[in-house]
Amino acid sequence: MMYSEKVMDHFMNPRNVGEIEDASGVGTVGNAKCGDIMKIFLKIEDRIVLDAKFKTFGCGAAVATSSMATELIKGKTIQEALEITNKAVMEALDGLPPVKVHCSCLAEEALHAALWDYAEKNGIVIEGLEKPVNDIGEHEEGYYEAE
Ligand code: FES
Repeated sequence: MMYSEKVMDHFMNPRNVGEIEDASGVGTVGNAKCGDIMKIFLKIEDRIVLDAKFKTFGCGAAVATSSMATELIKGKTIQEALEITNKAVMEALDGLPPVKVHCSCLAEEALHAALWDYAEKNGIVIEGLEKPVNDIGEHEEGYYEAE
C-alpha cells in the first residue's frame, strides 16, 4: 500500500481545518511547481501554542501532513515548535512516498512562516527560526527526492 493508515486517516478526517480569527501568527506558503498553497494560523500566548488551524489548496499528502503538524504543535512552546520538522511529521504519519516528501515541506514552511509572523508582530526572536520563503520551490533541490 502506498500510503500508511495514519496518512489515510488524517487525509479522510483532517484535524484542525479552518481559521483562527484573532490568530497571533499566520503563514502562507506555496509551491509553484504543483500550484498548491498552505495557510496556517497559530494562537500563541506566553510563548505557548494554544491552537493551530490550517487551510489548504493542496493535495492529499499536504492535507495529511498539515493535519498532523497542527496536532503536534499544540501545547508546544514556540521554541519546541521548531522541532516539528517535515521529517518529524512524516515519522508521526509512518512515512510518505518519496514523491510526496515536498508536500510535508509545505506544512513545515507554513508553520515557520506563522511563527515568524508572530515573532515579528511581538518584536521577539525565535532562536533558530529562519526567514520563511513564499515558495518552497525556491530551495527545491533539497526537497525533491531523486526518483
Ligand atoms: Fe503539491 Fe502535494 S503535490 S503539496
